[in-house]
Amino acid sequence: MRYNFDEVIDRSQTDAYKWVRSKPYFGTDDLLPLWVADMDIATPPFVMEAVQQRAAHPILGYTIPGEALNSALIAWLHRRHQWVVEPQWIRMVPGVVTGLAIAVQAFTEEGDKIVIQTPVYPPFMDIVEKNHRVLLYNELLEIDGRYEIDFDNLETCFKQGPKLLILCSPHNPGGRVWCKAELERMHLLAQKYGVVVVSDEIHADMVLPGFSHKPFATIDRTSAQNSISLVAPSKTFNIAGLGISFAIISNAKLRTKYARVADKLFINHGNIFGYTATLAAYQNGHQWLDELMTYLAGNFAFITKRLEEIAPAIEPHKPESTFLHWWNCKKLEMNQSELVSFFVNEAKLGLNNGATFGPGGNGFMRLNVGVSRVVLEQAMNRLEQAMGSGLKL
Ligand SMILES: Cc1ncc(COP(=O)(O)O)c(C=O)c1O
Repeated sequence: MRYNFDEVIDRSQTDAYKWVRSKPYFGTDDLLPLWVADMDIATPPFVMEAVQQRAAHPILGYTIPGEALNSALIAWLHRRHQWVVEPQWIRMVPGVVTGLAIAVQAFTEEGDKIVIQTPVYPPFMDIVEKNHRVLLYNELLEIDGRYEIDFDNLETCFKQGPKLLILCSPHNPGGRVWCKAELERMHLLAQKYGVVVVSDEIHADMVLPGFSHKPFATIDRTSAQNSISLVAPSKTFNIAGLGISFAIISNAKLRTKYARVADKLFINHGNIFGYTATLAAYQNGHQWLDELMTYLAGNFAFITKRLEEIAPAIEPHKPESTFLHWWNCKKLEMNQSELVSFFVNEAKLGLNNGATFGPGGNGFMRLNVGVSRVVLEQAMNRLEQAMGSGLKL
């Protein structure tokens, strides 16, 4: 390995979300925070060097990202995902959540129905509700410790006339990397019922060894025509603070609709450091990312083994992607507030409450493994102690 991911980095004095929001979220900040979905692993050195070099120039004025950035993104998507993207399909957007909100406004009206598949990244629900659209839930099926799509219920949802399906691919939480057959079935159903698919592929680069992400737009010749995709370097290279993402829309009609909303709000740019970091990341990041995913696979394996030893009643989903581990805690036989209280007050661990991920999330907690292995050892020791202190199994 050329890169070392073992360094323990203190972010507690950097206004990191996971630290600042600990108290409001958990009621205390006396926790090991393993929740918010960014990593405590250093942004790659070649990205930091590029940013530092740019920061050394005394003026940070209006700046154009330039052709090189689009070319680097296109080359990245081609090499990682065999996806051929034309420059005119790309629209910059500060964040994927912003892109989702633009899509909701562009492709639906107030009161329209939108399908999501839960448990899912909580802002999917907020975006729909804050825009006064109506949520239709297609709850995922949990089969042998992994999520599968409930296609019968998806069709039932589609029969109610939704305009949009917001897809999370790969899926957060649970880490499923949807396979081609699953994506194809979703696409064919969406096409049959005239539902546009907005595919949030923010986790696309972070697939574990042995898995391969299929962009929705590449399922067949028609899937790109009935969808838009959102991608970003933010999770992959741990640069979420730089606010840069991309909408990729090959269908000119959908692109025009999306642009109408984005242009009205003048949302079509990032910022200097986002441009610089993204260019460096996409140009130089392949080996770093491959090594990172091997390291994260080791972290997932470590946690899985420790859980078997100290808390076999907690059954994690078998990860396929992301750095987020989804723990089925139903065999602990606690209600959700007892479960949350156990992790906060007994184990002193800051994990995401599964209930916040919508229908199907009760009984689950989510742990972020995007940290040094040493930190995970500490976390599991805390859990071991808590399990030993009087919990009845
Ligand atoms: C599925 C998914 N989409 C979007 C985001 C956030 O995207 P952004 O920070 O670019 O708005 C996250 C972050 O956890 C996520 O998991």
